[in-house]
Amino acid sequence: MDLGAIVSETYAELADERGSGTPARYIPALALVDPNKFGIALATADGEVFCAGDADEAFSIQSISKVYALALALEREGPALWDAVGREPSGNAFNSIVQLEREKGIPRNPFINSGAIVTTDRFIGDSTPEEAVQDLLTRLRRMGRDESITFDEEVARSESETGSRNRSLAYFLEDFGRLRNPVEDVLSVYFRQCALRLSCRQLAEASLFLAFDGTDPVTGQQMCSASRARRINALMLMCGHYDNSGQFAFEVGFCGKSGVGGGILASVPGRAAIAVWSPGLGRSGTSVLGAKALSRIGLRTGWSVF
Ligand code: DON
Repeated sequence: MDLGAIVSETYAELADERGSGTPARYIPALALVDPNKFGIALATADGEVFCAGDADEAFSIQSISKVYALALALEREGPALWDAVGREPSGNAFNSIVQLEREKGIPRNPFINSGAIVTTDRFIGDSTPEEAVQDLLTRLRRMGRDESITFDEEVARSESETGSRNRSLAYFLEDFGRLRNPVEDVLSVYFRQCALRLSCRQLAEASLFLAFDGTDPVTGQQMCSASRARRINALMLMCGHYDNSGQFAFEVGFCGKSGVGGGILASVPGRAAIAVWSPGLGRSGTSVLGAKALSRIGLRTGWSVF
């Protein structure tokens, strides 16, 4: 199979649709990004990365970071993490608060904002917020094989300044006794983790471990155990797009995680890690063109997990 041709043809077919969807504006710094950006990168086990369009331009990965936060929280806490956060689809928006009260401060899953605030709290553990951010950066730089990976301070500040919804979720969690660290410490790490900037190429390379049993097949570095990678993939499939997860599974059939920066990370177990980026979003905060590109790649490769 000529994966390079599949990536280039997918890009060429969809390039005229650049600008589809609506970029996120509730984080003011994200509204400044050119809506016509569109990139695709597909990384395979033999170290090849097939790219098209703006695949080398770094963008705000936003909720895609929740995948790494989950891997780190599991490393610190082990299965006890599941006492604090569930593993079920929420059927609600990523920033919804309604279930949190009814379900006594246990978020439905680690990918909705409330769940990610809990995983961030757990991966901070006994460290300071600065140490936790450094720890996350060190891991990503190692997995992404690029020392320049960093976060965008302007985006983090912009989100913090307009972060009343996440503050509400975090104080609600605190009231239920679900956080170990002070709310503002947890949020300061959460906002910086969401503001991580990676290109499609870096994102795909840094995420190969998900598709290959927890270990980067190119460098041999282990990020997590095989069973943990399998479970993270399961959660991506069921919860990675919030109340659009069913639709994404139906249309695309890859384990995926969206971000409001317009990126989508897809893990195709045993095959590849794929990252796409186009800032315009649909109803549930998933990139419209990104999802279309993944769907075409799924059809052409026959790689749907179903
Ligand atoms: O907390 C937020 O609202 C953002 N930093 C991340 C949300 C997000 O990316 C949802 N994904 N599609």
